[in-house]
Amino acid sequence: MTTAIVVYDPWYGFTKSIAAEVARGLSEGGRVATVVADLRDVPVDHLLEHEIIVIGSPHRPGGPSPELCRLMENLRSFDLRGRRFAFFDTSPGRSRGRTVAKMESMLGDLNPFVSQPFLGLSVAVHGSRGSILPGEISHCRDFGRSIRESLSIPA
Ligand SMILES: Cc1cc2nc3c(=O)[nH]c(=O)nc-3n(C[C@H](O)[C@H](O)[C@H](O)COP(=O)(O)O)c2cc1C
Repeated sequence: MTTAIVVYDPWYGFTKSIAAEVARGLSEGGRVATVVADLRDVPVDHLLEHEIIVIGSPHRPGGPSPELCRLMENLRSFDLRGRRFAFFDTSPGRSRGRTVAKMESMLGDLNPFVSQPFLGLSVAVHGSRGSILPGEISHCRDFGRSIRESLSIPA
């Protein structure tokens, strides 16, 4: 069975909530065994045991969080062939999409053999409660579904 991992860097909790919804979309139908984890709990080699690796970061000054930047740097020393990556970010609306773009370009710099990442997701958040707006939840699930469907794995 195809396996996937969705990792996130938590602060207020928005990125964590989105990770859970993305995982729901991915695992619908039970054909992609999906786990969700705080990235600080997952060593890089464990991450790479999965074929689909989804990474979420809150926007921070200049792009991804420091933990995310460290992870991307650590990935440099691994063979990423056969792995498929997808990225999502959370930010106040003004920074929407910037962190996803940065993570995608960091991945491209890592390894000439790495496959193009799936199209990323960027979610605008407001406040500091960690719960995403109901309207955004379906986008997050759709993102998970679109990853599965682009590998021709039906629900
Ligand atoms: C320490 C910290 C630094 C942040 N820096 C920025 C920033 O430079 N630019 C910006 O647009 N938002 C910034 N934000 C807002 C976050 O991007 C937003 O709160 C985050 O996406 C929420 O995700 P989380 O709940 O998973 O932490 C910052 C938030 C925190 C807590």
